[in-house]
Amino acid sequence: MSATPFMDALNRYGSVRKAATATGTRRSTFFDSLNREREALLAIQNAEEPAMVPVRSPSKPTYYIFTAAVKGAAVHADFLKNLQAYARHLGAEFVVGPLTSVGRQRFAEFDSSEFAPEVVPYLTQEPIILGDKIRFSPELNLTPTMVKPLQGLQTYTKKLWGIFPHTKISLETVATHKHHPAKFITTTGAVTHPHYTPTKAGFRAHFDHVHGAVIVEVTKKGVWFRHLTPTNELDGTFYDLGYIVQDGKVEWSEGVSAVIYGDIHVEKMEEKVAKATWGFGKIRSSEVFTPLVDHLKPRTQVFHDLMDMTAANYHELDDTFKRYARWCNNESSVEGDFDTARNFLKDVAEKSEYNVVVDSNHEYFIRKWLLKFDPAAKEDFENIESYYKLKLAILYSVRNDQPFSFLETILRCAYEDDEEMDDVLDRFRFLKPDESFELHNIECGWHGHAGPNGRRGSKHAFKFVTEKSTIAHLHSPSIDSGTHVVGTSTKMDLGYNQGPNSWAHTHGIIYPNGGRALVTMSDGKFWATQGDLE
Ligand SMILES: [Fe+2]
Repeated sequence: MSATPFMDALNRYGSVRKAATATGTRRSTFFDSLNREREALLAIQNAEEPAMVPVRSPSKPTYYIFTAAVKGAAVHADFLKNLQAYARHLGAEFVVGPLTSVGRQRFAEFDSSEFAPEVVPYLTQEPIILGDKIRFSPELNLTPTMVKPLQGLQTYTKKLWGIFPHTKISLETVATHKHHPAKFITTTGAVTHPHYTPTKAGFRAHFDHVHGAVIVEVTKKGVWFRHLTPTNELDGTFYDLGYIVQDGKVEWSEGVSAVIYGDIHVEKMEEKVAKATWGFGKIRSSEVFTPLVDHLKPRTQVFHDLMDMTAANYHELDDTFKRYARWCNNESSVEGDFDTARNFLKDVAEKSEYNVVVDSNHEYFIRKWLLKFDPAAKEDFENIESYYKLKLAILYSVRNDQPFSFLETILRCAYEDDEEMDDVLDRFRFLKPDESFELHNIECGWHGHAGPNGRRGSKHAFKFVTEKSTIAHLHSPSIDSGTHVVGTSTKMDLGYNQGPNSWAHTHGIIYPNGGRALVTMSDGKFWATQGDLE
């Protein structure tokens, strides 16, 4: 007997109605059975893993550039020309995933003649696995009008990172064991222009349509990817790290507009992140290493959750065990935390023309410490002088009932007699609560802990806000509509995040044309060739 009797009957009789009648089955039962056979067949097809593309070496990256094209849509010719030029420059494979936008997407007929002729040579519906790290999955043929194209795909590529061709750019991380790198899944953006029906779904999809592509770098040791997005629909120019690709030419471009770092939590910073980002920490003499900030030369650096406020963690005020552990590890001194922040600010102040510190929730740990803690009652003589000094400084600041930066106030108080530190602090703009800081019409002044209308922040809370934004706070990077979320610069274990973890060491870049990308550390670098002579 055939393993697919209902599919066979459908093929023989031509319609569900006729096949159900001929087999003596109720039409709804026949239809359900037919769908079960199709799902089972698909599961078998998915179980057959595609061939893996081997990567060349531990250090020389294999490059791919992936994008999407919609059936019947005109191609963005200048963007395509620039993507091809960049692929030639890097020696990258250029691959386009076709989107046919028909009903039962998994079983859609694929006819390459229905696509813009310029992309036909690059179309494939076959999955591509690079090394044992990342999978490009055009076989899903996602519908271009999908609002949440990544929904349900968190585990589709199993342990591999996943890239899915789609017209909207979405990105999220998938939780893994805390001590393993988080898994990334993302969509690509499209090389074709918007092409939708005049319906609500069509207009909404047009709004979310992004010209874009993803560059992937894989070595035997690591995997990296970044989005390539032109912001000008007319010329298709895009940036990637230090390069500008314009008029089919790849040239060096001096400096990006901004780098928005993953949450700093300076007392809990991961040493590898500090080394790869600013060049701190031990670098072996045999290693030539250009830190991210010296390569990208940002005009503005943006810092979130600058301090962890470890010694003033109000969650642990009554936890004798944790306070004792902090004391044993030399983490119980508030002054010690400030000194760590002072050293960091001195080291990074000269790295850009403008430095912005966003008003963030962790700085308010010390506010609650000042309100709730009694160092005399707890005999915390290590911090008792700092406590009263800082409390007085805050009392002076609240007299005027004007918004002020809590962090700036306490740092200036802590170092009031230190002229050098005073000059360092003058190089930083500390944003006040709800103070706006816009770059290229992207709001960069929200940390992310406070959502609309006084609600708590989340990655979804900002996508229905009018302004485009780059926020932080969540430590799990993501992209959804106009909201980019950076990751963290901290160690992966901060004591309170027990269980699986989707945090990642991810910084955000804003290019001179307003294009944005997230870069994530893998194998101690933020891109494959970081550390080579640049
Ligand atoms: Fe944070």
